Amino acid sequence: MNYPIFSKEHTSLMSKHLSYELFEELKDLKTANNFGLQQVINSGVENPDSGVGVYAADEETYHIFKDLFDPIIEDCHGFSKQQKHISHLDSSVLASDELDIENQYILSTRIRVARNVKSFPLGPAINNHQREQLEKLIYQSLSELTGNLAGHYYSLDSLKDSEKAQLINDHFLFKQGDRFLQAAGLNNNWPKNRGVFHNSDKTFLVWINEEDHLRIISMQQGGDIKAVFERLVTAIEAIENKIAFMHSEHLGYISSCPTNLGTAMRASVHIKLPKLGLDMVAFRKITAKYHLDIRGTQGEHSDNLGAIYDVSNKRRLGISEVECVQDMYEGVKALIAAEKAA
Ligand code: ADP
Ligand code: ARG
Repeated sequence: MNYPIFSKEHTSLMSKHLSYELFEELKDLKTANNFGLQQVINSGVENPDSGVGVYAADEETYHIFKDLFDPIIEDCHGFSKQQKHISHLDSSVLASDELDIENQYILSTRIRVARNVKSFPLGPAINNHQREQLEKLIYQSLSELTGNLAGHYYSLDSLKDSEKAQLINDHFLFKQGDRFLQAAGLNNNWPKNRGVFHNSDKTFLVWINEEDHLRIISMQQGGDIKAVFERLVTAIEAIENKIAFMHSEHLGYISSCPTNLGTAMRASVHIKLPKLGLDMVAFRKITAKYHLDIRGTQGEHSDNLGAIYDVSNKRRLGISEVECVQDMYEGVKALIAAEKAA
C-alpha cells in the first residue's frame, strides 16, 4: 500500500491530516474486523470533494487510527481527545414556542439519530450474513413497538421501483448509489437486507442498514419541533430497551462516519426563505452564528429547490441532544426574523 496521490482537488480533513509520516505509522494496522487504513481512507481518496473522507468499521477504528481520527474529530466538532461526551435526551427541557404558527416558512421538521448495534461490525466491514442477521434482529424488535410507534418493515427487495421512488421523493427513504458510501464499502451487496420501518402516518421511521445500522427518525409537516423531538425521544427509549447500542464515554454513540459521533443527531427543517435566499452572504452569516448547516431539499449533496432549504444543526459531539435541537431552533428563529425584515 502506497501513500495516496492527493491532487489539488482533494480538500478533505483526511487529506489535510494524513501526512506521509502518519501514513507510514498507520498503514499496516488492522482492527479485529480486519479493517485497515486503506479502507478507512478509501472514500476520501476516491472522492476528492469529500469534506471528511474517512469511515470507521468498529469502535476500535477510532482508537487504533486515533492519530488520524482525533484531529479530524477536533476539526469537525471542536471536541478534544480529553473531553467526555455527555448525553441529555429529554424533550421536556427544550425551550421552544412554535416558531411559525401561520405555517408561512417551515414546511416540515425532522430529527434523526444514528445508532449501531453492539457486537456487530459497522457497515463498512459487515459481511452479508451479519447484515442479514442484523436486519432481522432490528425489524423483529421494531415489530414489538406499540401505540403510535407501531408499524411495518419494508425491505428494499419487497418494494416496487415506483414505491421506492415515491418514498424517496416524499423524503421517507434513503437514496441509492451514494458514491461516498459506495467507496466506503457501505453499499456492498446492495440492496439486500436494507429497508425502512414506519408507522402508518410516516411520522416515525427507522432506516435499516444504510450508513449506520439504524437511523431513527421522527418527522412531520409544519414547525412543531417539540412534538417531533418528543416522539423521537420516546422512540429511542423504546428501542434502546430492546437493543444494546455501541457507545463510549469519550465519543458517545459510535457511528460509521465521524461527523455523526456523540449525539448522532441531525435536527432539520425544510424552510422557505425566498428573500434571504437572494442574499446568501447574509443567510450564511446567520447559519454560521448558530452552527447550522444548509443542505438541498433532497438530502445531503442535493441542490435546493426554489427557495426551500434544509437547515440543521452542524454540531453533534460534545453537546447534548437538547442543545442540538436548541441550536436548530434558535437559528431557525433568527432566519425567520431576517426573512421578515428583508
Ligand atoms: P440524514 O438526515 O439522514 O443525514 P439526508 O440529508 O440525506 O440524510 O436526508 C435524508 C432525507 O430526509 C432526504 O430525503 C431529505 O430530504 C429528508 N429530510 C431531511 N430533513 C427534512 C425535513 N426537515 N423535512 C422533510 N424531509 C427532510
Ligand atoms: N464522506 C462524506 C464526506 O466526507 C460525507 C460526510 C458527512 N456525511 C455523511 N453522510 N456521513 O464529505
